[in-house]
Amino acid sequence: MTSPLRNDRFLRALRREPVDCTPVWLMRQAGRYLPEYRATRARAGSFLGMAKNPEVACEVTLQPLERFDLDAAILFSDILTVPDAMGLGLYFVDGEGPKFKHPIRDVAAVDKLAVPDMESELGYVMDAVRLIRRELDGKVPLIGFSGSPWTLACYMIEGGGSKDFARIKAMALNEPQALHKLLNVVTDAVIAYLSAQRAAGAQALQVFDTWGGVLGPAMYREFSLRYLNRIAAELKRGEGADRTPLILFGKGTGQYVSELAASGAEGIGVDWTISLEDAARAAAGKAALQGNLDPTTLYGSPDAITREVGKVLESYAAGNNGSLEGHVFNLGHGMSPDMNPDHVAVLVDAVHRLSRR
Ligand code: CP3
Repeated sequence: MTSPLRNDRFLRALRREPVDCTPVWLMRQAGRYLPEYRATRARAGSFLGMAKNPEVACEVTLQPLERFDLDAAILFSDILTVPDAMGLGLYFVDGEGPKFKHPIRDVAAVDKLAVPDMESELGYVMDAVRLIRRELDGKVPLIGFSGSPWTLACYMIEGGGSKDFARIKAMALNEPQALHKLLNVVTDAVIAYLSAQRAAGAQALQVFDTWGGVLGPAMYREFSLRYLNRIAAELKRGEGADRTPLILFGKGTGQYVSELAASGAEGIGVDWTISLEDAARAAAGKAALQGNLDPTTLYGSPDAITREVGKVLESYAAGNNGSLEGHVFNLGHGMSPDMNPDHVAVLVDAVHRLSRR
């Protein structure tokens, strides 16, 4: 049994209900900028070893909540666990990021892909969700997540990170049916993965479309947005307060806020290259917004951070009829390992203080 939620600001803001102050959490809030994370990692060995061990994943998920007054926890895991479970063989090379042993390079490889079994192939993720819910004991809600089909396909086809996305864009041009076939299987896997996290106890779900912004508008709509729409439509999320909210985050996808808001997702996450004023006008009350402080603001002084937090709050209100409701404060993308934890405390406290109703 789990305790009732003691802090529901985040879930209320996603439903555009009134809150006492604006909720805040940070993408990559658990990670290498925290000395306690580095200590756990030194003991546990590798990042993947940490993610695949539910006790360690739970410990690391809770670390930022012990230091900062954050309004949500996010499962410690990675978006690439899904292609890993599909047999691609995920590994990390220090300083080079994620790689796959068996990237998808031809139609024959696409044809072999299947939706992995959630409990046998990804049971460690569901075990972590269950354990974190128990340990959180109602302190704040837990966010589960997945990569978007397009973003996962980028890694699956490129075999790792990429600068130009040459292979996947060549596939989009030369073999669009093969790419759609891959995106369809991955979408089925994402829907099953998010549903399983929700069943295990995740109280909100976020899809990371980190590479949506590398596409031009026509290709974005064909190869990314179409599948985000399918995810929003097929995750049956209950009614009213029981509804598990869905957030669609995209990097470089601010120009599509009105289309993303029409998907039925409760929240749209944007990076810092669009003003929240413009994003809020585009969302037009159909979805809550999440974001969008430039993460490098954390390299500024405490005074600069406080000032920039104030600007983000004001910008949101300016596009939302003067009201702060319906905003979840976040960075426009994830934190970096060289950021100062003391500055995170300044940010979190500034959000709560400056937005107090
Ligand atoms: O937000 C959180 O605190 C939750 C944990 C989380 C991680 N990865 C932990 C992690 C989440 C939500 C992710 C998602 C993820 N992973 C994305 C989408 C979000 C985004 O940032 O755009 C992407 C593209 C990945 C793929 C990935 N995994 C990359 C590019 C890297 C960085 C590699 C490197 O060497 O910097 C990872 C590894 C990773 N995922 C780390 C963490 C804390 C670093 C692990 C370590 O070295 O200890």
